[in-house]
Amino acid sequence: MKRIDLRSDTVTLPSQAMREAMHKAELGDDVFGEDPTVNRLQELAARRLGKEDALFVASGTMGNLVSLLTHCGRGHEAIVGDRSHMYRYEQGGMASLAGIHARVLANQPDGTLNLTEIEQAINACDVHFARTRLICLENTFAGRILKPSYTCQVAAVARRHQLKTHLDGARLFNAAIALDCPVASLAAEFDSVQFCFSKGLAAPVGSMICGSREFIAQARRNRKLVGGGMRQAGVLAAAAIVALEEMVERLAEDHANARRLAEGLAEMPQVDIDVSAVETNIIFFGLKDPGLDIKLFAQALADEGLLVLPLGAGRMRAVTHFGIEREHIDEALRVVERSLAAGRSGCLQTGTV
Ligand SMILES: Cc1ncc(COP(=O)(O)O)c(C=O)c1O
Repeated sequence: MKRIDLRSDTVTLPSQAMREAMHKAELGDDVFGEDPTVNRLQELAARRLGKEDALFVASGTMGNLVSLLTHCGRGHEAIVGDRSHMYRYEQGGMASLAGIHARVLANQPDGTLNLTEIEQAINACDVHFARTRLICLENTFAGRILKPSYTCQVAAVARRHQLKTHLDGARLFNAAIALDCPVASLAAEFDSVQFCFSKGLAAPVGSMICGSREFIAQARRNRKLVGGGMRQAGVLAAAAIVALEEMVERLAEDHANARRLAEGLAEMPQVDIDVSAVETNIIFFGLKDPGLDIKLFAQALADEGLLVLPLGAGRMRAVTHFGIEREHIDEALRVVERSLAAGRSGCLQTGTV
């Protein structure tokens, strides 16, 4: 049995069709706007997201940073969630590189920010306060889906206060597939959207920023500023085109596998999991016995070929993706069951070496 790696959907390897497309890609200098494959990808992405234009960038982090730089100036304020990727997992680049002050609100478990708190966080025009410019949301958030009715309400608040909105949609296609709606309908309310090719869509590299023609023209300047002007980037864009054309519908399989895994874990009395929180391809679970060490447990699983991500506070994450089939999920459940049985003999107790 091969190693079953459920740490993240970023571990996906490119499909054969992607490798062939990369090999055959027509190339040019993209900083001159002359790479035909990048241009085709950007047109495809803009159309798919329902925006005027799009810009290919190296990563989700770069896409978010370039969007922030484009919406805000130094000393401006952006409203973000306390557990959002942009705030927590991008090294504070919004402050250190863009000079943007984060106004941090608590993310609810479903990823939303409270509407009243958003409204209250918008600074009045006063010499003491930074100017609020932007509201940022994330969809999916830890695998949870932001409902279109909610994002409409946030956008209405933004419009009322002349603010811009940015969506970190690293896994926006997962949300669209789970809701069975066009991805454009989830992007419609936002001035800018970043989505990743290198996660569930399985391309090796790259993200896209989508927005108005004017926004993307300025974002292109900011991409160059942060060193993200790539030259024959068509070799990467070719794989991303395959990702858009061939890898979106199959995300439903990842969601079904995540649900199967969650339901299987829920049948184990020692496992603590909320199956109702599993909406796409990401699941979180823990162990009910506080005496069991989660890191030792993750190591015991890894010794059996099953990789999951141990987090703080006794929780673990598992993510389904391209390359993980139903039989891998069944094997993963058997590995968890075996390791829990071994745990009963004491080898997973906190303090065990
Ligand atoms: C929600 C979210 N946004 C942004 C990113 C950043 O993407 P990248 O790793 O391509 O920089 C990630 C990466 O895992 C993510 O999960």
